Amino acid sequence: MTSPSSSESSASFEGATSFEGAFDTAVVGRWAAPGRVNLIGEHTDYNDGFVLPLAIDRDTTITVGVRDDRLLRVASSFEAGVHEISLDDLDTTQMSGWSAYVFGIAWALQQKLGAQGTDAQGSDSQELTTAAGLDIWVDSDVPVGAGLSSSAAIECAVAVALTDLWHLDVTRPFLASVGQLAENDAVGAPTGIMDQSASLLGRADSAVFLDCRSLDAEVIDLGFSAASLELLVIDTRVEHAHATGGYVDRRVSCERGAREMGVSSLRDLDVDDLPRAAEVLDDETFRRVRHILTENRRVLDTVRTLREKGPGAIGALLDASHASMRDDFEISVPELDLAVATAQATGAVGARMTGGGFGGSAIALVPTTARDAVTAAVLAAFAAAGYREPTVFAVHAADGARRV
Ligand code: GLA
Repeated sequence: MTSPSSSESSASFEGATSFEGAFDTAVVGRWAAPGRVNLIGEHTDYNDGFVLPLAIDRDTTITVGVRDDRLLRVASSFEAGVHEISLDDLDTTQMSGWSAYVFGIAWALQQKLGAQGTDAQGSDSQELTTAAGLDIWVDSDVPVGAGLSSSAAIECAVAVALTDLWHLDVTRPFLASVGQLAENDAVGAPTGIMDQSASLLGRADSAVFLDCRSLDAEVIDLGFSAASLELLVIDTRVEHAHATGGYVDRRVSCERGAREMGVSSLRDLDVDDLPRAAEVLDDETFRRVRHILTENRRVLDTVRTLREKGPGAIGALLDASHASMRDDFEISVPELDLAVATAQATGAVGARMTGGGFGGSAIALVPTTARDAVTAAVLAAFAAAGYREPTVFAVHAADGARRV
């Protein structure tokens, strides 16, 4: 997992289960950032469209010490070893494995602030050239590989910590773009800006309604508990990766669809354009485009429905979103379909897979009274199908990244 220059040493690490076990510096603070589930709006972010994610009550927490040199050193509770890199030598080709989420943020801050500064004097880029190195211990209760954005949670915890410690005058939407750049160029996953935005902008009991073109964000009250509803996550434990394979293919299809329809992004099209798209595009590209255009519409309808009728009325939109991902965008897997169908059949208000797809988690919005029955039915259905046992748990919309 280590790389040539983000070198690893385990000498000082043997048996380390905490910051103090791994590092000699004094702790100066702790920062936390949550994972997310996306309520609706899938694969729309990199098409300049609309998304409606929420930050969840599962965090990555980092504990930080300030060094007297320019080294960044990171260690974690989930893997032995200390990775390190110099702030004077940040290079994405030298970053790999999970430490790239940490080092990538420092690199992306340098890129963005070095290129622009944040004020007329460029004082922030000045800060970066003299910033102190740090020791960073990473701990997380966001399940990894479950499609709940454990990677964005690390990135955003680091982003807010560096902002505080290096006295940067930057906004949260700016930090979301820093996280996306790190994910794209340091980690190598061509993802959009949704996950980092949710982790940075999330609010308790609310979702973040984000226009991924203007980057305007609005906090939308969910009112789940007032309506006696719970949001269940069903982690299928089918592993997925977005740096390769289907995610990248879908992005390419969307770009092709936009190009062949003569627009710069699919955001420039609406459901009214579908008849023309059917004539212009091959069948597969047409179905990919239809998912994006109808999904954008469903996000807007969900926001309106939440405001006008409350969360009990959004179920059909969640269900339709899943069908669109299963049939048109083709990013579901049998385990996700079974989780969704079982939840729907046992009293869920609505259910859908969440995140990039090809594995990971589904969400089910359920009456609190049906929670145990839905959970039991999903476990039984997976056992009967011979699938790996899923993990089912409730999540609550939580505040975004913060100093602890
Ligand atoms: C992953 C990506 C996001 C987004 C979703 C799909 O979570 O990181 O940017 O594209 O997939 O909606």
